[in-house]
Amino acid sequence: MPEHIKSIEEKIEELNRKRERIQLGGGQERIDKQHAGGSLTARERIAVLLDQDSFLESGLFAEHRCTNFGMQGKPMPADGVVTGAGSVDGRLVHLACQDFTVGGGSAGEVHCRKIVQMMQASLKTGSPFIVVNDSGGARIQEGIESLSGYGQVFYNNVMLSGVVPQISLICGPCAGGAAYSPALTDFIIQTRSACMFITGPSVIKAVTGEEVTAEEIGGPAAQMNISGVVHFVAEDDRDAMAICRRLLSFLPSNNLEDPPQWDAEEIILPDKYLNTIIPVDSRQSYDVRDVVARLVDRADFMEVQEHFARNIVIGFARIQGRSVGIVANQPAVMAGVLDIDASDKAARFIRFCNAFNIPLVTLVDVPGFLPGVEQEYGGIIRHGAKMLFAYSAATVPKITVVMRKAYGGAYLAMCSKDLDADRVISWPTAEIAVMGAEGAVDVIFRNEIRKADDPKAKRQELIAEYKESFSTPYAAASAMKVDDVIEPAETRRYLAMSLDILHSKREFRPQKKHGLIPL
Ligand code: HXC
Repeated sequence: MPEHIKSIEEKIEELNRKRERIQLGGGQERIDKQHAGGSLTARERIAVLLDQDSFLESGLFAEHRCTNFGMQGKPMPADGVVTGAGSVDGRLVHLACQDFTVGGGSAGEVHCRKIVQMMQASLKTGSPFIVVNDSGGARIQEGIESLSGYGQVFYNNVMLSGVVPQISLICGPCAGGAAYSPALTDFIIQTRSACMFITGPSVIKAVTGEEVTAEEIGGPAAQMNISGVVHFVAEDDRDAMAICRRLLSFLPSNNLEDPPQWDAEEIILPDKYLNTIIPVDSRQSYDVRDVVARLVDRADFMEVQEHFARNIVIGFARIQGRSVGIVANQPAVMAGVLDIDASDKAARFIRFCNAFNIPLVTLVDVPGFLPGVEQEYGGIIRHGAKMLFAYSAATVPKITVVMRKAYGGAYLAMCSKDLDADRVISWPTAEIAVMGAEGAVDVIFRNEIRKADDPKAKRQELIAEYKESFSTPYAAASAMKVDDVIEPAETRRYLAMSLDILHSKREFRPQKKHGLIPL
């Protein structure tokens, strides 16, 4: 063989050397720094997330084309993002995992092109798209090319929206585009040490003079509890990957499939504990998650946005092996009243479930919408209307259980029969009325109470009468707004049978480009 022609062994050796060099990302020193901060590297994260040996990488040899600011010839292994396909519990996913050890995971033209390629592969194969964010945002040296790259990521986020589930993990500092792209996806999982913001502390100080730390402005306490941007908080990278895997187990791979079906119990026995789970006195509170735990398989409830708008509880569970989305008022927080944040939280979740064929189970114990100047100025009319809109627009099976209070507009907004709920059942403890007995009596019997010899006693008498006649489920049941009044112990069985019956539900709506949910 002529000397200048390399043998196949030499070529394979060269290939392996190149691979090893690229797979080391930004080098051992930066990997050590990542580990010292308690984080995994991009490749380690992928190994934890995916089924063993299922990862098929693409774009390993991709390189940037930037020549500005000393970038010419500067190695950026894999251009700072590891992309490919793999499986989670045997089901296909596509993913992009930013590598902070390479240029701070910053996103340039090629980096974004790699992400977009995976998004389009998700779309073509009907598989979820997962992106692990750990990035300083748009790569400053690449100027308009990096902005354009992020623009294309955003555009493709929207193309995927409602077709395949999109999940973002925030595993490091995420600024600018690295925060906006997750905001366009369905779920955000943030680790305790990560932060996300559009502009960081130094820019905020320069523009507004406010002094905040990255943690205060973008840590999980801020982005979950206050802003409601984040859906799950993870202890660390491993926990974030575990949350992502668990979340995927409830979801179909795309909008044309049903969620995976798990094993069901042979028979469902009545659960007498449910008969006493809620206090009959409607002034007493309880944790609605205790009710949810009794109704779903193995008490396995994956709560979404646990620390935001805690007056409403949302999340995924299974009933007889079928995935369901649960929406429940939480009497333990603000008596379960609906306010701006609760309406936003629930409406978004309802729309996700509808897009991905996940039936909705709504548990009602709601005293009404929260009155107040702050709520009115904040646009409670617009935000509360989102719930009316989302439930009305949803065509998945909708089953509502009225447990106790169901008053006024909030009764309607919690998936009432008039918003086309397929089944509304009620416990005998239900109070379905325009408002609570005390308020109603004060409005409609004001004169009688004033004129009575003993106004206080008269008021109590009228309250008792009102409660007897109207604060029950029977008026609603006689008007066919409630399909049945059942013993609470029978609820799980009733839900399971209803989900079975409604599985083949098909509903056809007028053709339109899209509805106009009040944003
Ligand atoms: C190029 C970047 C970068 C960026 C970080 N780096 N961000 N390079 N473009 N956007 C590089 C750093 O220069 C450094 O390189 C390495 O990544 C690690 O960064 P450090 O600053 O050392 O790390 P740390 O102290 O942990 O701070 C991380 C950080 C900070 C909080 C993310 O780097 C930062 O604030 N970066 C800028 C954030 C930002 O404003 N981005 C622009 C967003 S605009 P060396 O080689 O020195 O190690 C945007 C627009 C999109 O995204 C559209 C939105 C709508």
